[in-house]
Amino acid sequence: MKVRLFGAFMVVLYLAGLSALAYGAWYGMDYYRMPTVERPHANQHEVLKPGGLIGHGFGMVGSSMILLLFLYSARKRGKFGLRFGRMNRWLDVHIWFGIMGPLFITLHTAGKFGGIVSISYWSMMAVMLSGFIGRYIYMQIPRDDSGHALSLAEIENTIDGLSNLLERDYDVTPEVVQSLSRRALGSGFEGTGAFGVILAMLLFDLSRPFRNWRLRRYVRRLYPNIPSKATAEILQAAKSRAALTRRRAVLKVINSVFHYWHVIHKPFAIVMIVIMFVHIAVVTLMGYKWIF
Ligand code: HEM
Repeated sequence: MKVRLFGAFMVVLYLAGLSALAYGAWYGMDYYRMPTVERPHANQHEVLKPGGLIGHGFGMVGSSMILLLFLYSARKRGKFGLRFGRMNRWLDVHIWFGIMGPLFITLHTAGKFGGIVSISYWSMMAVMLSGFIGRYIYMQIPRDDSGHALSLAEIENTIDGLSNLLERDYDVTPEVVQSLSRRALGSGFEGTGAFGVILAMLLFDLSRPFRNWRLRRYVRRLYPNIPSKATAEILQAAKSRAALTRRRAVLKVINSVFHYWHVIHKPFAIVMIVIMFVHIAVVTLMGYKWIF
């Protein structure tokens, strides 16, 4: 129930953020499409220019979001008393800030890039885009309900637990458990090295709907008379078992890829934040004020 509530909360957050952005882009569409030399003569210039009431507002909202996404790092390390809430939920909120912040800042720039601050902008975009890759790799590491990575022993236990569940609760024989696993795992393209493993993971995920369809057909043929709820549960257990088996096989490589992803992701974030502060300090010293 709590999971659904949080899911609904995230949907509301995305709808609210995207609606505000879409409204901002629609409102300023004519202005943003104008060549920069003509903009000072436009009616909307005073409000939509980066220092205008709305343009500056976009910058304030966007940069606040960028700062707030670092709360995830604080939560991860238990700093500032942040020791509550599941890590995976904090990450979901981090990602929301990490997508919305750059988009608000894009409206703030009104498409005018130049000087040192453009390094900050493009670093921000690089961090944001690399976040999607990071999220994909993050998902490949087996985790508990709170988002903490499982140890190898915990992964083995969960796989055994799922086999036992199938055998005990659904009378599935060990041979059928093996057969379900083989089908859920597919043809078994195993890449070697970081690139090969990621490619294999991508292919595995892309072909998942087809494999799941074949697996469902197989289970229905095997147990034609059981209720559909039981079929769904058997399928769920078989798919979870297969996903874990696959991830266990490449755990070492994935962990090291994720480590290197962090090594690239963080410096961009630091460059971005340092230049962002310099930019804010400069415009404040130049006398730019918003509503306060
Ligand atoms: C400008 C936007 C963003 C900035 C500045 C940013 C910054 C960061 C930083 C500094 C970390 C390291 C946290 C730590 O280990 O202490 C991090 C982790 C992460 N970020 Fe972002 N991020 C941004 C956007 C995104 C987006 C859009 C996504 C996903 C779509 C994302 C996904 C992740 C993931 C998966 C992690 C790793 C979590 C972990 O290892 O615990 N980030 N981000």
